[in-house]
Amino acid sequence: MIVAFCCEHCAYAAADLAGTSRMQYPPNVRIVRVPCTGKVDMLYILRAFMLGADGVFVAGCLKGGCHFVDGNLKANARVQFLKKILELLGFGGDRLDMFFMSSAMTWEFVRIAREFTERIKKLGPNPFFKRNGVDGK
Ligand code: FES
Repeated sequence: MIVAFCCEHCAYAAADLAGTSRMQYPPNVRIVRVPCTGKVDMLYILRAFMLGADGVFVAGCLKGGCHFVDGNLKANARVQFLKKILELLGFGGDRLDMFFMSSAMTWEFVRIAREFTERIKKLGPNPFFKRNGVDGK
């Protein structure tokens, strides 16, 4: 499973449009709608991994296009920092990423969902989830 924290002003709208346009992206991508990616705390991401997500991505507005000035840039700084921590822990920094798009970039959301899913398939299941037997219940 992949958890996608999507800003409602861009990526969530793009994913919604992809759905209504019948564009297909992997069903293992579970979208969490947020008012701005600046709202995505590192603990949200870690919690998603603790509950068994194999990968997490954060998708926000284009640089310069955030409705809350720089929420997307702050989110990106958090994601890049957390990627390094996850890599140091041996969990794999590539399991986490940040992308930027507009609400009209439906194809971009679909491409990212597909490519990120392929990346995570190559990395395999969440090692933390297996190792500790946490089932999220
Ligand atoms: Fe979309 Fe801030 S409003 S990332």
